[in-house]
Amino acid sequence: MTQDSPFPGRFAVAPMLDWTDRHCRYFLRLLSKHATLYSEMVTTGALIHGDAPRHLDFDASENPLVLQLGGSNAQELAQCARMGEQWGYSEINLNVGCPSDRVQNNMIGACLMGHPQLVADGVKAMRDTVDIPVTVKHRIGINGRDSYEELVDFVGTVAEAGCKHFIVHARIAILEGLSPKANRDVPPLRYDIARQLREDFPALQFSLNGGIKTLDECEQHLEHFDGVMLGREVYANPWLMREVDERLYGLPGHSPQTRTEVLLAMRDYIERHCSNGGKVVHVTRHLLGIAQGFPGARRFRQLLSADIHRTDNPLLVFDQAIEVLQGR
Ligand SMILES: Cc1cc2nc3c(=O)[nH]c(=O)nc-3n(C[C@H](O)[C@H](O)[C@H](O)COP(=O)(O)O)c2cc1C
Repeated sequence: MTQDSPFPGRFAVAPMLDWTDRHCRYFLRLLSKHATLYSEMVTTGALIHGDAPRHLDFDASENPLVLQLGGSNAQELAQCARMGEQWGYSEINLNVGCPSDRVQNNMIGACLMGHPQLVADGVKAMRDTVDIPVTVKHRIGINGRDSYEELVDFVGTVAEAGCKHFIVHARIAILEGLSPKANRDVPPLRYDIARQLREDFPALQFSLNGGIKTLDECEQHLEHFDGVMLGREVYANPWLMREVDERLYGLPGHSPQTRTEVLLAMRDYIERHCSNGGKVVHVTRHLLGIAQGFPGARRFRQLLSADIHRTDNPLLVFDQAIEVLQGR
């Protein structure tokens, strides 16, 4: 990065389990060259004891790409951060926002907001091991620990361990009695608290996450934050990424002109994926949103979410779907 180049994390697509896999990211990268992309969360256990290449492999075009880890054991985090760096990821991010019961039992995710020193120890161990940045994605609190003073204690403690960029999902997580899905909607968004953090820690960088839907909103938030992170809206309406390079990075890129252009590039990708033993639907399930707002959108989605599962020739169904959006 030169001194004048924009902060790489100005616009990021959120880590989303089961959604932002490598096929999804390859697709999103066709729409923006500069947006930062995130892996799904991978637990340290899965990387150390499981099939690491399955979790870590990606296409070089996906960079800048952040590996998101779930875990709290400093030594294991360091080991996994090293793997991520060796694999070619551009940054390591620690998940301190996921409220699932399953992960709480293993001290992963949002429950770690109650253990700032443990998070700091993990961050320090990773920073001592890798040269790429180590960042933290967190909530503004958890039930029972949701005062601003406690949030400041969390960020301050983790910052002392060397984390310089915090991605704030601007709502608390409720650790009992609310599903992960409800935890993304029910606790109210408090952008004001995230903004206060940025004012109180002027030496750190903060990205805002939660409920952002348009690039106009992104531009407004970027007046107060170093970066914005969007999750569900990008997945539902990926075409909005097309203007990210020009509008948010001021770097006119090579944005695709039509959805057809993107889908034809994905067709080549699908053929490569299939020749390596993959299935068409592994990829096409991520493409449904690209037709959002178009007259043929329903037909497009029907072809790719229903018909494609009932045919012996899924690539042909994919071609029919491309036809629906021809020239758009
Ligand atoms: C299907 C799904 C899976 C998610 N998985 C993760 C995850 O692996 N790690 C994480 O930090 N957050 C995860 N999240 C939360 C998002 O990263 C993000 O914080 C949240 O959706 C709020 O942003 P949004 O309103 O722009 O979607 C997930 C969200 C969704 C919808």
